[in-house]
Amino acid sequence: MTATILVTGGAGYIGSHTCVELLQKDYDVIVLDNLSNSSPEALRRVEKITGKSVTFVEGDVRDRNILRELFGRYTFDSVIHFAGLKAVGESCQIPLDYYDNNVSGTVILAQEMAAHGVFNLVFSSSATVYGDPASLPIREDFPLSATNPYGRSKLIIEEILGDLYKSDNRWNVALLRYFNPAGAHKSGLIGEDPNDIPNNLMPYISQVAIGLREKLSIFGSDYPTEDGTGVRDYIHVVDLAKGHACAIEKLRTGCGLKAWNLGVGNGHSVLQMVAAFEKASEKPVPYQLVERRPGDIAACWADPALAKQDLNWVAEKGLTEIMADAWRWQSTNPKGYRD
Ligand code: NAD
Ligand code: WQD
Repeated sequence: MTATILVTGGAGYIGSHTCVELLQKDYDVIVLDNLSNSSPEALRRVEKITGKSVTFVEGDVRDRNILRELFGRYTFDSVIHFAGLKAVGESCQIPLDYYDNNVSGTVILAQEMAAHGVFNLVFSSSATVYGDPASLPIREDFPLSATNPYGRSKLIIEEILGDLYKSDNRWNVALLRYFNPAGAHKSGLIGEDPNDIPNNLMPYISQVAIGLREKLSIFGSDYPTEDGTGVRDYIHVVDLAKGHACAIEKLRTGCGLKAWNLGVGNGHSVLQMVAAFEKASEKPVPYQLVERRPGDIAACWADPALAKQDLNWVAEKGLTEIMADAWRWQSTNPKGYRD
């Protein structure tokens, strides 16, 4: 029998790529998304890629009535919870919106899951929960901390889910700590489509290369890294999506609550990213070196060994593929889903 998965935030960047992987593995997929940072066109493209249909429900994960209606209508095997706000800077301006969306949204979702006998949950956490790590690579047992409301919302949710599991061991919860998602589906049909000026490096570089923005500001050139610019673990979004399918399989074995890093296991600097993007796109990416961005750390990359051991998952795609796929998406959809 095919299993049905509820995907909150499934119209978004990582969610849409995960829907492709789930459909290709013959899961039935129901997406709940309020479209606050996404377009329904993403799901039409998911259907085009897979030749399968996605059931889309427009609504908010904090809306109990919608959740009750959904849990009443479908028998879900598991829930993947992507829905949330994710901009670090914005979270400092409107922290209560972040706690409400991210923390309250997860609490309400978990309450309705339990009320309807669904205990398998994959949660989108982030490498941001490691704060500024004392050493690299980062293992899951490193100390956790937060430096901004967005990161704190993820940390609080991890703790809430930990308390929940301690209270009722019927729960199986995968806390997936993503490093830096990048790239797009190789079809060029789905990818990252920021509503506003991008906060993150990859969409910003893409928009400079396509001519939407004049130049990239590189935040800091005096970090203790090889070339002075920040180093991160950039993971192809399709590898990340596959990690969710592996986590679902793990939950179904009754694994309890556990955190896994989803990263490649090595880092690249901002200047290396610019050079790799220029090579893939054959376009110049003008940049200026500016002050460090407050709250940034010098370097961050994962030890992904636990995910390999437990989930049988490893990132397979490297920087060349990330850049080629990001450019294919950007150059064929210069205005994202608005084209
Ligand atoms: P995204 O903004 O593209 O996707 C999030 C989706 O959730 C959007 O479609 C949005 O419309 C929806 N949404 C937001 N609040 C909602 C609500 N209250 N009810 C229903 N839908 C709602 O972001 P993404 O990059 O795909 O990230 C997905 C998840 O992964 C987020 O939880 C994010 O915090 C986490 N994450 C992202 C990154 C990253 O760099 N992209 C890194 C680590 C963790
Ligand atoms: C990467 C590198 C910047 C933009 C953030 C969140 C984290 C996670 C992923 C959700 C850094 C530099 C960036 C620019 C630049 N999100 N940069 N110019 O900061 O590692 O992580 O997104 O969970 O929680 O904090 O990613 O893409 O913003 O930055 O020089 O215009 O690029 O300083 O070194 P970051 P990023």
